[in-house]
Amino acid sequence: MRLRNDKPEAGNQPATDLIFGEWYPAVRTSELRPGSMTTTLLLGIPLVVGRKRDGALFAMRDLCPHRGIPLSAGWFDGDTVQCRYHGWKFEPCSGQCTEIPSLTQIDTLQPTKIYAGAFPCREADGFAWVYVPEAGMGRITAETALPPLPQVPKFSAQFRTAHLSADLPCNVDHGIIGLMDPAHGPFVHRAWWWRSAASIHEKTKRFEPLPDGFRMSSHAPSANSAPYKLLGVYGEKIETTIDFTLPNRRYEVIRAGHGENGKWFASLTTITPVTPSSCRIDVVACWNVFYNVPLVPQIAKFFGARFVRQDQETMIQQAEGLRFRPAMMLIDDADKPAKWYFALKQRRLTGQGEHPLREPVELHWRS
Ligand code: FES
Ligand SMILES: [Fe+2]
Repeated sequence: MRLRNDKPEAGNQPATDLIFGEWYPAVRTSELRPGSMTTTLLLGIPLVVGRKRDGALFAMRDLCPHRGIPLSAGWFDGDTVQCRYHGWKFEPCSGQCTEIPSLTQIDTLQPTKIYAGAFPCREADGFAWVYVPEAGMGRITAETALPPLPQVPKFSAQFRTAHLSADLPCNVDHGIIGLMDPAHGPFVHRAWWWRSAASIHEKTKRFEPLPDGFRMSSHAPSANSAPYKLLGVYGEKIETTIDFTLPNRRYEVIRAGHGENGKWFASLTTITPVTPSSCRIDVVACWNVFYNVPLVPQIAKFFGARFVRQDQETMIQQAEGLRFRPAMMLIDDADKPAKWYFALKQRRLTGQGEHPLREPVELHWRS
């Protein structure tokens, strides 16, 4: 598969190398008070996302089915979205048209047979997730079977949560392979509190196949990563797994002990296509370590934000180079996860091919 960065911005043709038929995080629900709406782009589709007065979330294609003006330019009274051009009204969860003000007694047109595009929209982990259907899937109703909503795994009733997001000026593939790239740590994330170039050493990690992805199997976390040392104070054996699953999800789980007193940290990082040539990284992390200690969420967020900014700055610089459409290389073993990602994605898009991992394998690299 070619790594591309030369696709046009959101246009009329659906992008052919994006994965449809999945849930993507659209906006943070903290932005959505009852009766408010906001706009965003997902996979090149303009969306108006909002929350009705009764709390229900909705996501509509931000284009009036009458003449294409953005519905977000109109009015929302908490129940109904009204287009500002000719005043058509829509129930935003179903997209069903409820009123066409210009109709007279003689007109036979039934407004309720008209629908604005509406997408399933649900809340999890502080995000409004939007299901972006495959082309030709038809109108989605309550009966349509949808995949489960992605969520951060949680291992206790009480936990803290923090969020981070950053726009990345590259296509989703570069964002994703950057996310799973084991060799950039000592260079991009060079910092006294994380890693230095001098801390590079050889690593061996075991990977196993997952149905639509792969898992870096339970292992003792990198001993030279300071934040990981924090969990060690509990004296329990620390287990960690990192899963990648299509279309764009990286789950990391770190656990010290199980049961009531177990300590854990878990995160879900997604790279979501905004347009065919740009994407956004969203991180949601939950943990019960230091649950009662003040300032821990702020500190975690401070370091997390720096970490994400380092990735973001690197990708901004990379985008400069990609404008010239250079050829790309993926090397063994450090870029093997990236090769697996492209193979899995190709398999999903074409419905053909084998899982790139038939059985557990070990990869070796220095980082
Ligand atoms: S364009 Fe929306 S009602 Fe006419
Ligand atoms: Fe990184």
